[in-house]
Formats: sequence, C-alpha cells, structure tokens
Amino acid sequence: MKLPVLLAVALLLAAATVAAAPNFEGRKKCGSCHRSQLESWERTAHAKAMDSLAPKAKAEAKRKAKLDPNKDYRQDADCVGCHSTGFRHEGGFDPTAPSKYLTGVGCENCPGPGSEYRLSHRKAGQAFEKKQQTAPRQQLAEAGQEFQFEERCAACHLNYEGSPWKGAKKPYTPFTPKLDKKYGFDYAKAVRNDKAMHEHFKLENVFTGPPVPPFREEFQSKAKPAVKGKEE
Ligand code: HEC
Ligand code: HEC
Ligand code: HEC
Repeated sequence: MKLPVLLAVALLLAAATVAAAPNFEGRKKCGSCHRSQLESWERTAHAKAMDSLAPKAKAEAKRKAKLDPNKDYRQDADCVGCHSTGFRHEGGFDPTAPSKYLTGVGCENCPGPGSEYRLSHRKAGQAFEKKQQTAPRQQLAEAGQEFQFEERCAACHLNYEGSPWKGAKKPYTPFTPKLDKKYGFDYAKAVRNDKAMHEHFKLENVFTGPPVPPFREEFQSKAKPAVKGKEE
C-alpha cells in the first residue's frame, strides 16, 4: 500500500474508534422515552445521592464516618464519583458545572454511557411500532450496553479497603460494613430494591435473544404498565 492510502486507512480506523466509544449524556435522553422509570427513579436514594454531600445533610452518619458534617463535599473529587453519573468520563458529571441530569446515581451508571445504544433503542422502537418487528439484543451489547450490573454496583458499594471485591481502589467509600453492618452490600437483595433502583415496567419485548439480562423474567412478571414518552 502507498503511504497516502495507509494514512487514509489509519485515519478511518481512528475515526471508527472514536465513534465507537460511547459518551455519557445524562438521564434527560433516557427519561424522555422511559418516563415511568424516570419518575420512579426520582424517588430513590440514588436520585438523592448528591444531596447527601451537602453541608448538614446526614450529619449523624458523617460524624460516625469521621467526616465533617458542616463541609460541602459536592465538588470534592474524593466523593462525587460515586454520587453522580459519569464523573471523569466523556460527557459525564463535572462538579464545576454540574448538570442536573448527571447529578445523583442515574440511568447510565448501570447499563453504561448511552450515546450509542440509545440510537438502537429509538430505531428498534420505531420498527416495532410500525411493523411489529423485533431486534436482536446483541446489537445493544455491541453499542456498549451492559446487562450484568454486578461489577458496576460493586465499583461504588464495595469499593473500600479490605473489600471482598477485587477491583477496589481509591477513592474509597467512607461507609463500610466495618463502620456499620447496614452498609454491607448484598447484590441479589439490593438489585431487587425498587426503592433504590427504580420500579420495573412492562416491556413490549422489542429486543430479543442474548444477552438476556438476569432478573428480567422475574421483574417482568411483576411489572406495571409503563407510561411512555416521546423523545425530546
Ligand atoms: C427514543 C426513545 C428511547 C431512548 C432515548 C432510550 N430508550 Fe431505552 N428503549 C426504548 C425502546 C423503544 C425500548 C424497547 C422497550 C420494549 O421492549 O418495550 C427500550 C429498551 C430499553 C431497555 C430494555 C432493553 C432490553 O433488554 O430489552 C433498557 C434497560 C433501556 N431501554 C434503557 C435505556 C437507557 C439507560 C437510555 C438512556 C441512555 C435509554 N434506554 C434511552 C426507547 C428509548
Ligand atoms: C455511581 C455509584 C453507584 C452505583 C454504580 C450504584 N450505587 Fe447504589 N448507591 C450509591 C450511593 C452513593 C448510595 C447512597 C445514596 C445516598 O443516600 O446518598 C446508594 C444507595 C443504594 C441503595 C440504598 C441504600 C442501601 O444500601 O440499602 C441500594 C439498595 C443500592 N444503592 C443498590 C445498588 C445496586 C443494586 C446497584 C447496581 C445495580 C447500585 N446500587 C449501583 C452509589 C451507587
Ligand atoms: C467508592 C464510592 C463512594 C465514595 C468515593 C464516596 N461514597 Fe458516599 N456512599 C457510597 C455508597 C455506596 C453509599 C451507600 C451506602 C449504603 O447505604 O449502603 C454512600 C452513602 C453516603 C452517605 C449516606 C450515609 C447514610 O447513612 O445515609 C453520605 C452522607 C455519603 N455517602 C457521603 C460521602 C462523602 C462526604 C464522601 C467523600 C468524602 C463520599 N460519600 C464518598 C459510595 C461512595
């Protein structure tokens, strides 16, 4: 191959890599279609996670963890990573210009940054509406959507010194089971806690095939009808 051709190929490859890396966008996008889920999430502890970093909030818990209850931790890099969405990632939470759609533990903390896979949601949703045509879930996985959340939860909930989770690294959570048993994290139990995650709503099964999310059948069997929104 001639040099200009090689260069062109290299540039194309670089462009493809950039396009394939999904960014965080915030829950406005997700919530405009998944309205019921968003409204349910707004009532959760995850939604209010940034409030806990404000002065005077949760003073007793902070004192117990040797934190200063009068300090404002809302811009503290040692805290915000676990109390927001996408901190230190492209498009993610920036404490100096906090977007309300990235404040708190939002949608993209679990299935991952959504700039790519949400496009497939839209396209597949439209095809399903028009022609009842389903789409392979595999295409979502290829666009970066995560279906196994356990590692993601662990990165916040089990991130402390002496944790059973192998990936633990600083900054650690100050709230560990050593401080109080109630801070222990049992994934199977926690993931079923609708008050912390969000309630589950009936899906139309637009996506089919692997990777089928664990708990899907169980959650769907008890799911309520959804109110869908139109993308803004
Ligand atoms: C343009 C509308 C739209 C947007 C924006 C959108 N989705 Fe979806 N999403 C859909 C549709 C349609 C489905 C298929 C639902 C069904 O099967 O009933 C879906 C399905 C899902 C599912 C279930 C997938 C499965 O395994 O069946 C999850 C989880 C999800 N969306 C999360 C998100 C998240 C997180 C975001 C934001 C990053 C998002 N969606 C943005 C329309 C959208
Ligand atoms: C980005 C970090 C982060 C991720 C990811 C995360 N959480 Fe949380 N979670 C928090 C924070 C912070 C709180 C406490 C919010 C507050 O009260 O300020 C919390 C609170 C909770 C609570 C309520 C408190 C309790 O312990 O009973 C549950 C349950 C929970 N999370 C489960 C999960 C599960 C299950 C996952 C994965 C599917 C998950 N979380 C992912 C940060 C996270
Ligand atoms: C590695 C992730 C992580 C970091 C870093 C982190 N937190 Fe959290 N924080 C959590 C999780 C997870 C919870 C929920 C614990 C639970 O209820 O089981 C939480 C809960 C809290 C709570 C509520 C405790 C309660 O009993 O209601 C406060 C207050 C808090 N964090 C403050 C802070 C402050 C201040 C910092 C920085 C000094 C910080 N956090 C850093 C993950 C983190």
